[in-house]
Amino acid sequence: MCGIIGYSGHRPAVGVIIEGLKRLEYRGYDSAGVAFVQRGELCVIRAEGKLVNLENKLAQAPSHTATSGMGHTRWATHGLPVERNAHPHRDQAGTVALVHNGIIENYQELRTELEAKGVTFTSETDTEVLAQLVGLYLAETGKLDQAVSQALSRVEGSYAICVVSRSHPGVLYAARKSSPLVMGVGVGENFLASDIPAFLPYTREVVFLEDGEMVRLDANSWQVMDQDTLQPLEKTPQHIAWDVQAAQKGGYKHFMLKEIFEQPRVIADCLAGRVDHKTGRAQLTELSGSPTPERLFIVACGTSYHAGLWGMYLMENWARIPTRVEVASEFRYREPLLGPGDTVLAISQSGETADTLAGMRLARKMGATVIGLCNVVGSTVSREADKVIYTQAGPEISVASTKAMCSQLTLITLLALHWGQEKGVLPADVRANCVRTLEGLPDVLAAELSRMRHRAAELARAYSEARSFLYLGRGPCYPLALEGSLKLKEISYIHAEGYASGEMKHGPIALIDPKFPTFALAPCDELYPKVKSNLQEVQARGGKIISLTHAAQDLAVDHCWEVPAVWGPLNAFVMLPALQLFAYEMADYLGKDVDQPRNLAKSVTVE
Ligand code: AGP
Repeated sequence: MCGIIGYSGHRPAVGVIIEGLKRLEYRGYDSAGVAFVQRGELCVIRAEGKLVNLENKLAQAPSHTATSGMGHTRWATHGLPVERNAHPHRDQAGTVALVHNGIIENYQELRTELEAKGVTFTSETDTEVLAQLVGLYLAETGKLDQAVSQALSRVEGSYAICVVSRSHPGVLYAARKSSPLVMGVGVGENFLASDIPAFLPYTREVVFLEDGEMVRLDANSWQVMDQDTLQPLEKTPQHIAWDVQAAQKGGYKHFMLKEIFEQPRVIADCLAGRVDHKTGRAQLTELSGSPTPERLFIVACGTSYHAGLWGMYLMENWARIPTRVEVASEFRYREPLLGPGDTVLAISQSGETADTLAGMRLARKMGATVIGLCNVVGSTVSREADKVIYTQAGPEISVASTKAMCSQLTLITLLALHWGQEKGVLPADVRANCVRTLEGLPDVLAAELSRMRHRAAELARAYSEARSFLYLGRGPCYPLALEGSLKLKEISYIHAEGYASGEMKHGPIALIDPKFPTFALAPCDELYPKVKSNLQEVQARGGKIISLTHAAQDLAVDHCWEVPAVWGPLNAFVMLPALQLFAYEMADYLGKDVDQPRNLAKSVTVE
């Protein structure tokens, strides 16, 4: 999830662009760059790291008077966060520059085709393929609109792009498919951006571009057209009343809520290029050449640990790999019995968690293969692992991890399919049901999230007096019960304990009384009758129950929360946001600082 801004008007463009990128830095911040045409020259200036590094570079560059240009702040998906991979990317002839937010799934084969035509690449990014294609078609046609349209017709995946060319000073072309792009209409100036905050101080007249649309703009005019036919399209600007802070949250009250509602897109992005649609097989090219584990050790902390624990059920059932899930802070001091032939999967959103890193280093020292599953390209976990798989969740701003766990569950599911396929033990019906369900999840969730939020708010108010909660789950829902209780604890400061339902009668049942409610995960699976009897034990002690379940379950409890059922253990993808929303609504109702809870840090870099 990168940030793009484009400008054509009467102000010095670089100033407008840098200010805009600052307001987009929450979208990605590992490198940045600008491009503008000045005295017929196409100038591209990029820098690694925070935006201030780019500002310093621009301060040393000759003064720039251009009144049009574009900028980009990067959240790496393909290629390390170094200057050569920063955007804008130019074509070989240096005629056009391009910035991109999204994932080009077929970039490898396009790159091979272009290299065969003698094109030399200077980065490892998927994006540079697009810049080279536009340059090639511009050289053939001389028409920038046609060149952009032709180039886009060759790529598969998601994109929001902006293009400038030294042969078309003052003009910007932009287009989108699946990635956000908006236009800001001013007086004698026009703007483009991934998100409204970028140009809000200048104009509140916004045109929302749809998938398959392309726009040409300069200082005094703009025209939206169809990407393929270049036929003009009618668009009407809308007036936006938000302030910048609200806009960065996309109109949501908190980043946590925004990130919960981003999960449908996150699943789609994680699947992008990782399912072979012809064979229905999972394909994790990142793992090519690495051995299929004889034994698997999943090492992580907090929410990432819960994702790993859920993964164990799939690794053992689908890939038949003996799997242990380890709390990293324990694993690192336990001298675990592992060595060559064993694989350690280190899961970390930030890629910087000290205990998880120590666990990885111990595993490597003992000769195990270490795979990093993390969300931050270029983070220490990604650099120190033998292999790394990135979870395409985009930057997660809220301390409470939500969309990152959703992305971890998605990749863990693909990993279990991959290793099951490699070992030839994955039943064909499991793979078919799993891939079909995964690909349908974004729509299921997108349709359900608002209804879920409404129900979560009702239940949070009904239970806002509770000072403690017991979360219960069985099988793959046990890790979800742990996660639900963690979310409630970390943002509402209400004591909560996650427990395996069957374990309850071995102790925690002593806690049950009318003031100690139970949040139960009761999906319609083979374990449902067992969960039902556990809940009858709670009711027998006067305990109040919220049951997160599926329609038509005969569970007479205080509050039944029905959510759509999907196939098998993938119910987790529907139950997880419900747990997140309940905790969110409770914390918000109790007036807590949801995004910055007390005593917590987004990345725990000390042990
Ligand atoms: C979860 O909401 C917390 N922020 C915390 O438990 C977190 O999951 C844990 O610190 C691990 O972080 P990581 O995934 O970045 O390694």
